[in-house]
Amino acid sequence: MPYDFTTLHRNCLVEQVAPLQGNVTGTLPPWLRGTYLLDGPGRMTFGESEFNHVFDGSALMQKFTLGENGATFSSRFLRSYAYTTNLENEQIVVSEFGTTGKSLSKSKLGKLGEKLTFDKLFSDNAPVGVVVFGGEYYCITEAPFLHKIDPSTLETLSKVDLHKELGINSQCPNPKLLSDGTVINVLHGVGATGPKYDIVAFPKKPMEGKASVFSKPKKVGSVDARWKLNPCHMHTFGLTENYVVLLEQPLTIDVKATVTNTIRDKPFIGGMEWMENKLVKIHLVNRETDGYHVLFTSVLHLQERGATLGSELDGGCVKRVVVPLNVPEKAVPEENLVKLAGSRAKAQRQKDGSLLLTPDAITKFAYEVPSLNPEHAGRRYRYFYGNSGNMTVHGGKVGKVDIDSREVKEWYEEGMYASVTAFVPRPGATAEDDGVLLLAALHSDDTKKATLLVLDAADMKEMGRVEFVTSSDVARALHGLFIPE
Ligand SMILES: [Fe+2]
Repeated sequence: MPYDFTTLHRNCLVEQVAPLQGNVTGTLPPWLRGTYLLDGPGRMTFGESEFNHVFDGSALMQKFTLGENGATFSSRFLRSYAYTTNLENEQIVVSEFGTTGKSLSKSKLGKLGEKLTFDKLFSDNAPVGVVVFGGEYYCITEAPFLHKIDPSTLETLSKVDLHKELGINSQCPNPKLLSDGTVINVLHGVGATGPKYDIVAFPKKPMEGKASVFSKPKKVGSVDARWKLNPCHMHTFGLTENYVVLLEQPLTIDVKATVTNTIRDKPFIGGMEWMENKLVKIHLVNRETDGYHVLFTSVLHLQERGATLGSELDGGCVKRVVVPLNVPEKAVPEENLVKLAGSRAKAQRQKDGSLLLTPDAITKFAYEVPSLNPEHAGRRYRYFYGNSGNMTVHGGKVGKVDIDSREVKEWYEEGMYASVTAFVPRPGATAEDDGVLLLAALHSDDTKKATLLVLDAADMKEMGRVEFVTSSDVARALHGLFIPE
């Protein structure tokens, strides 16, 4: 069966406020108790108007709660300004990434003023993920807004505007939560020399005299954007015990085009610019010394685009880059500095002192929206889990990738599509993959059905599942987290 792309833009119109009891089959581990909280675009229409892009849909929180008596499902829309205003006006009035909202101003000047007001320029719809700051839960997006939510009722409590608070224009929607409660994130702003990426650490508790954890984060480091009028789009970043790893991809935001598009009522997506034939630039920022350690450029080339959508989406695979930290000054470009056992990656010192990195392809296909054992976040890990990018053979495969052996174990079932996965370690486990993989899935043949699958993460075999039949379309979530009881 070909990939069912309609599973990407389901239109949920009715939220499930009262928890719905699911039907359990198989065996759920008795230790598995807690909440699997998800966020993603849920509502695609208001009145007659429809969003153009899958990322534009109004944020819908979904929640699976695992307890003594099986599992429940509930969902609620995030009460952003964008959602409530669209709802009130029964049409799309707030512009999103790929959709221009209909202006409510009658005069031309009013329309222009409305467009150029920062909090109108960027929607506060936050369908990217649920994250933790200061022990509290927030829905996040790339625009500089966060919405505090109550994970038990899914109510929207308050809004944080990081443009007002810190003067930034956008943020990475995948901040990293450390075991001590600190959160590291990358914020995008403009400095004296142009666009920059600031790496900051938000404390677990507000600093003395500060109102919130967002008031004055500690600066870890700062990197100037490589193209002055084109800061790059940075959805995520890497973290090790010693370094923050920034990837400046050739996918950029053309600042001039974005402003022009806004004035001309064209959506933000038109301002994205791919820098043809440019390499990915990797920055390693030392977490202790507040500065660069090394600066590299690597070859991460994409395969040629195929003629069909399916093959275009199959363009990626899992690649591992190895960065040698001690580079002898006498190294010649012909010498491969990667000495890591089993790796086919290359690192070659160029004449200008930079390193040219050639990645090692680990798998045949990409594995998207990766998850891993949270105890290995920011540390060495061997396994990760993700949705297969192979969309030509079957729709909803989920793979477990072993970085060391290059082995991939896959789960799939005809007609089922995984939204996203979460690894939950078994209490007392010592092996990295001793635990379960939670998989929120939806169905190609029944738009109102949601299934929570529990797989044994060691062999990717199903242990049990909980099925729910809801009253409206079940939307595909983008990112989520598991909160143990
Ligand atoms: Fe993502």
